[in-house]
Amino acid sequence: MTAVNTRKADAAYDIKDINLADEGGRRTEWAEQFMPVLRQIKARFEKERPLEGKKLSACLHVTTETANLAITLKAGGADVALCASNPLSTQDDVAAHLVKDHGIKVFAITGEDNESYYLHIKACLEHAPDITMDDGADLVSAVHMIALDRVDDLPVPVRDWANGLSAAERKQLVDGMIGSTEETTTGVIRLKAMADEGVLQFPVIAVNDSQTKHFFDNRYGTGQSTLDGILRATNILIAGSTIVVGGYGWCGRGFAMRARGAGADVIVTEVDPLRALEARMDGYRVMPMAEAAKVGDVFVTLTGNTTVVGLEHMKLMKDGAIIANAGHFNVELELEALPKVAKGPRRVREFVDEWILDGKRLYVLGEGRLINLAAAEGHPASVMDMSFANQALAAEILAKDRGELSNAVHRIPPEVDQDVAQLKLDSLGVTIDTLTGKQEKYLASWDEGT
Ligand SMILES: NC(=O)c1ccc[n+]([C@@H]2O[C@H](COP(=O)([O-])OP(=O)(O)OC[C@H]3O[C@@H](n4cnc5c(N)ncnc54)[C@H](O)[C@@H]3O)[C@@H](O)[C@H]2O)c1
Repeated sequence: MTAVNTRKADAAYDIKDINLADEGGRRTEWAEQFMPVLRQIKARFEKERPLEGKKLSACLHVTTETANLAITLKAGGADVALCASNPLSTQDDVAAHLVKDHGIKVFAITGEDNESYYLHIKACLEHAPDITMDDGADLVSAVHMIALDRVDDLPVPVRDWANGLSAAERKQLVDGMIGSTEETTTGVIRLKAMADEGVLQFPVIAVNDSQTKHFFDNRYGTGQSTLDGILRATNILIAGSTIVVGGYGWCGRGFAMRARGAGADVIVTEVDPLRALEARMDGYRVMPMAEAAKVGDVFVTLTGNTTVVGLEHMKLMKDGAIIANAGHFNVELELEALPKVAKGPRRVREFVDEWILDGKRLYVLGEGRLINLAAAEGHPASVMDMSFANQALAAEILAKDRGELSNAVHRIPPEVDQDVAQLKLDSLGVTIDTLTGKQEKYLASWDEGT
């Protein structure tokens, strides 16, 4: 894919083609039918308007599910601006639909280059948000670089813009913020590091930490859609192949489960003894990456860490090995080392780049970007229903906050998690037992033993 550069980011929106809106509308409607919990929240938001008068800037993957979230936030009264949280994950028809049919300011084009990516982040900051909503903490960290007078550390388009702001305007950008929400593990790690350093300027709600988010989205969503992305990119036969899964967290265990279900021999690599033990007892082979590198056919990283597949591992791989990442950033693969020592890249099919390293062919999928969003459509709507229900409720919590929330990383209250789970169960037509009075009393007592 040729990287797209845009210079139109000062406009009211910046998308590929407004004429794609009808297709985006039909696909957004398709996703909506699988998002009953978010639909209920939207109906309530339309009546109660909890986000009335609030400006909200979101940096999320621009997919059909995100479209339904943005429409819900607007129904709640928010003035929404949206940019992409990854250069390859934007669905251009969805972006067009949001602009044309919902008046949402979208700044996102699939394949945008690095400069355009940050021009779009800048456009979302210019929106002067009361609330930001991130997937990977790119918006909120830019606000903090400005607040902490570290403008020189910002990528050029944002730096140039921030340098043009007066001291009072910079202060207003930060003081105007009620708070922020964060969608993914990697973003939460960055935010907790900011809180630990004592530099967090406003409250943040870690949506990822809701159980109705990471138990389901990270596990079942990433599990299924990562396999989907690999299949769409390569059309390889999974049965009989050896797949190496880097990381056995929520995402890794979901993908390992689905790869095994499709007939793969799965090897797990880990750095955490507990998770490694869990993987072993779940029936997988566990070994260091340096050993797995010699036997794997397909390598997939899902850790949130850097250089999980390094050049040293790539050198050990078999001819024809396939390498992909499904963690948030492409730093999980040491791709920047390849141009110095290997020949390539040669695009052999969409989303597949061939490199020749020491005479062996290596295939990197989706430029190392999260493969489930680069080559497929991301998580199914039914699982994003719960993640985005949490996002909408987190925005409502922030909008209603009257200064009770400290400048820390907060979780959504556990009872809200329970409510979201119950609503999802209801929508699936699943009923469960309830505790009897006798059982409640028993569980609250200590005096009844053997
Ligand atoms: N592709 C998607 O759509 C999607 C969805 C949700 C989360 N994510 C991202 O996926 C990543 C993982 O998220 P998670 O929720 O599973 O996190 P997690 O914390 O539950 O799991 C990460 C695991 O990786 C392991 N790990 C760390 N460094 C390692 C190394 N060098 N080698 C092997 N294992 C290592 C950790 O010990 C941990 O068990 C994050 O970047 C997250 O933001 C992606």
